[in-house]
Amino acid sequence: MRPETQTVLHSWCRQTDWNAPTIIGGAGARLHTADGRSILDFSSLAECSNLGHQHPRVVEAIRAQAQKLCFVTSAWGAEPRARLAELLLEKSGFIDGRVFFTLGGADANEHAVKFARQASGKPQGWIIARDRSYHGASYATMALSGDARTTTQSDPNAYRVAHVPPPYAYRCPFGTSTDNACGEAAAESVGQAIDERGAAAVAAVLMEPNAGTNGIVAPDSYWPALRRGTRERQVWLIADEIMSGFGRCGEWFAWQRFGEEGRPDLMTLAKGLTGAHLPLGAVVLSGAIARRLEPQLLLTGLTYCGHPLCCAAGVAAIDSYQQEDLIARSRRLGAAMVERVRKMQSRHGVIGDVRGGQGLFAVIELVRDRATREAPSPWPELHPALRALLHSALQAGVSFATRGNLILLAPPLVIEEKDLADALDLLDRLLGELTVALGKAIAVGS
Ligand SMILES: Cc1ncc(COP(=O)(O)O)c(C=O)c1O
Repeated sequence: MRPETQTVLHSWCRQTDWNAPTIIGGAGARLHTADGRSILDFSSLAECSNLGHQHPRVVEAIRAQAQKLCFVTSAWGAEPRARLAELLLEKSGFIDGRVFFTLGGADANEHAVKFARQASGKPQGWIIARDRSYHGASYATMALSGDARTTTQSDPNAYRVAHVPPPYAYRCPFGTSTDNACGEAAAESVGQAIDERGAAAVAAVLMEPNAGTNGIVAPDSYWPALRRGTRERQVWLIADEIMSGFGRCGEWFAWQRFGEEGRPDLMTLAKGLTGAHLPLGAVVLSGAIARRLEPQLLLTGLTYCGHPLCCAAGVAAIDSYQQEDLIARSRRLGAAMVERVRKMQSRHGVIGDVRGGQGLFAVIELVRDRATREAPSPWPELHPALRALLHSALQAGVSFATRGNLILLAPPLVIEEKDLADALDLLDRLLGELTVALGKAIAVGS
């Protein structure tokens, strides 16, 4: 067999750089390589394997469903699809709502936008999204995303998308001096973007409620203020929970931290929905939106939407989060993880900012100099010294994820506490070395 390096086109990389080990199995937070190594996965792959790898309950549910019925289209009923929809409505409290199943995250966001436009009767309505967001890599979701890597590939104007600045408190685009003031200013800028176009011309606002893969973690003031502003203007709010859902931010869905006050009108899901054992996404719609769509023709859908095998995996995944109390575990371990990283910050000048920790998701923003906040490399480039850190970590058996100058900490929610502590010890040592490599011994506390 020819190696993958010669036959496969890999995503999000230069092909000539791709040289990854082959994974032949996994268990818990660990992946097993073909050459006999065990790697601790500190990113849940793409922040999606929340249940760890090869979760026995999910694997068994897929096997059992495969023996009964692999596939029917959504023209036919399927038991696991009905059960999963019911569970999602129950966990989200959208009791009289409905669920539309998709193949993954990008098409969930595209469908949420379609539904918002159709149900609001604004087929050409604007969608307000934000910079430094990520909503997918199809053409429409690249236009929705505020992602510097792909802005030239898809024109937001052509998709009637307008972007506002992000709630990025460490480098606040509004020049505020506290996290909460930055969150409020960012929410206010969404209100202004709606007012400029007129609420009648805006179909929805699409935002990540808490954490995003582009490294923003919104201050606590952001989501409630955004919700108030959109509600006052009667514009629907879509929460992209594709990464932040299923315990990643310490709740089933990140907006639930704010109770009913934070409830969106639509919510998109993927990743943790099956713990990434099979590809599946979903749009959860409020009862009010569902009632508007029910009598209308829904001219959309992909062949495999609501695939029974994937839905069976989703049912087993939800069962596992619940049985193993993983949402509360994520909250507890996430708080401990961030506390540990903040202690590292007092020793390593290279750590500019630490954010997150509502669950097992945190971002470390690296700087050359904590006083000036100078970035080691322009966003979203990866500095060679950080590339070297990733390489050393992998040699030591831990896989970390980065975006530009950010290290994203997002281990599976099932990670053993000793593994978590060992990985943070390793990171502590490597960040000490990185401070030296970046050529700055910065006075602690400066
Ligand atoms: C917040 C968010 N939205 C959407 C997506 C796109 O999901 P998918 O890759 O399944 O299309 C991602 C993936 O990283 C994400 O993190």
